[in-house]
Amino acid sequence: MPKIKFTIITLFREALEPYLKTSMMWKATDKGIAQFDFVDLREFGLGPHKSVDDTPYGGGDGMLLRCEPVFNAIESVKEKDPSAKVILPTPVGEIWNQETARSFATAAESSDKPIHYIILCPHYEGYDERILSIVDFKVSLGKYVLTGGELPALIIIDSVVRLISGVLGGENSAIIESFSEGDNLEYPQYTKPFDFRGMTVPEILLSGNHGEIDKWRKEHSKKAN
Ligand code: ADE
Repeated sequence: MPKIKFTIITLFREALEPYLKTSMMWKATDKGIAQFDFVDLREFGLGPHKSVDDTPYGGGDGMLLRCEPVFNAIESVKEKDPSAKVILPTPVGEIWNQETARSFATAAESSDKPIHYIILCPHYEGYDERILSIVDFKVSLGKYVLTGGELPALIIIDSVVRLISGVLGGENSAIIESFSEGDNLEYPQYTKPFDFRGMTVPEILLSGNHGEIDKWRKEHSKKAN
């Protein structure tokens, strides 16, 4: 039984699948920790052209995602799992950060049944405001506008799944690294060679003195803006 399930409602499954089948996200799936499913919004489109969008009332540029395909797509998932929560990536949502990612991961880890999120990926210029009535979390990735919800969906998924135990290699990797403690960024790290084009590794890291190394790392942790 997976710890976490994401059902992604999108018109562009092909934009998401390669990433979710690669590296850590693939590993999380392979280990049975995460499950990623797709729903093709087009299947819920209207009329002979399976249309999912229309022009805005009151005029204006562009097309808006219509309510019917979206509600029908979400309800088709909720019919099978009424507990599933809906995430809408939108530039007007709450800014996503490490704390939110961690709260999603913790919820998945502490639940005895899979936590299920439906991510609705809007495209085009926007969506009918009434769609918000079926959404649980409005999430913004930052103060810029993307063409759709696919990239935000991948970022949300990646940032949560990697925090679930068993996904990352080193047991401590997710705990130590950037942003895990307040807004401290990771300390500088080095691997071989010792001397690369005259740039050498700080001697303290070769000292074997773990107390001093920890102190150095704390002192050199950077602060987020
Ligand atoms: N969709 C378009 N822009 C976005 C952003 N910045 N965050 C989340 N979803 C978006």
